[in-house]
Amino acid sequence: MVFGKSFIVLDSVDSTNNYAANMLKTSDVAHGTVVMAYFQTNGRGQRGTSWQSNRGENLMMSLILKPLNLAASEQFILSQVICLGLLNYLRTETGIPATIKWPNDMLINGNKLAGVLIENSLRGNVVEHSIVGIGMNLNQNDFPAGVPAISIREITGKQYECGAVAKGLLPYLQAEYERINDAAGIKKRYLQHLLGYRKLLWYQKDGDRFQAEITGLGLHGELVLRCADGAELICGFKEVELLRENFG
Ligand code: BTN
Repeated sequence: MVFGKSFIVLDSVDSTNNYAANMLKTSDVAHGTVVMAYFQTNGRGQRGTSWQSNRGENLMMSLILKPLNLAASEQFILSQVICLGLLNYLRTETGIPATIKWPNDMLINGNKLAGVLIENSLRGNVVEHSIVGIGMNLNQNDFPAGVPAISIREITGKQYECGAVAKGLLPYLQAEYERINDAAGIKKRYLQHLLGYRKLLWYQKDGDRFQAEITGLGLHGELVLRCADGAELICGFKEVELLRENFG
């Protein structure tokens, strides 16, 4: 099924992820269905944060996936696949050499270009369906003070149309998704583009600041860090923060 064969465009919605979740509850939704909105009244980010975006200026979309026999324990591969698709899109279509900030942000010079909120529904120990929410800053140039965000337009000087970007992005996401059975290859490429892989950067955990390099990923996508003093740390999703001071 081609991603975006079913493509729903909404003027305004609370959250495209919520809309997708309701569709999944009430109808038979095809794998690859996309919901895109020009405005969200209750956009959601990772870790319970909100996702704010000016009306019509940025990409806000959710892609519904129905993986075939993806073990719940392997679900982090969806994050990796989506990051690689976004990265390839940005590099190829806009020329922006973005990097991945673990687990699934797109960054350029320490500023966030795109974020991903993946909400998986499990049946037993497999992923029944996944809602991949993508927010990408296209044209906005007035981010709130102190928010380290940037838009593609601020870098390239070009104006972008949300629907056209969504449709342009989907083949990149699909190409990576079709490699989902090559977990080792995907992980290798994800690590190659991961900010801080084999590079000492500053982190904070439980109030302690320390330098560490990323040496790999745990079985469930945890960040494996080797601290400057040689200690190894395995960090879950809310446990460690990459510090702003890495970016000057
Ligand atoms: C993050 O970086 O915190 C993730 C942000 C994800 C935002 C997108 S916008 C489209 C979709 N609908 C939502 O409510 N959130 C995601």
